[in-house]
Amino acid sequence: MEKTLVLVKPDGVKRGLVGEIIKRYEMKGLKISQIKSVVPTKELAEKHYEEHKGKDFFDKLVDYLTSGMVIAMVLEGENAIKCVRIINGATKYQDAVPGTIRGDFAYMETYNLVHASDCEVSAEREIKLWFE
Ligand code: CMP
Repeated sequence: MEKTLVLVKPDGVKRGLVGEIIKRYEMKGLKISQIKSVVPTKELAEKHYEEHKGKDFFDKLVDYLTSGMVIAMVLEGENAIKCVRIINGATKYQDAVPGTIRGDFAYMETYNLVHASDCEVSAEREIKLWFE
């Protein structure tokens, strides 16, 4: 079964949306194989977002991810990577359609509630980073 890393970011935790978000993955049939809560260190956040290093929003992104508790989980299922990204919705809140997590709840560019791996290579790297 395919695996993907999902984060409920600090805004999702602070807004009390953890249960609502996890419910949507479970309703789709995805299984949680690992889960934990963590306040990420700057080092972990910088490694997680290393592909965005050098972009003008990088520091803001790292400050945001380290600003509070994150729920990190590994979800498993057939085509888990694609399924989770569809459930999450478009990265930009203004493009995210109703019925998706971001379409229903996100209203700011950086603070978009959830993160999910975008391909198998990222999933493997991110799962190692958060769970080993
Ligand atoms: P995520 O799916 O975690 O992956 C990269 C993150 O960068 C993305 O969610 C957004 O939170 C953030 N992001 C992407 N583009 C921008 C942008 N133009 N300005 C601010 N934040 C952004």
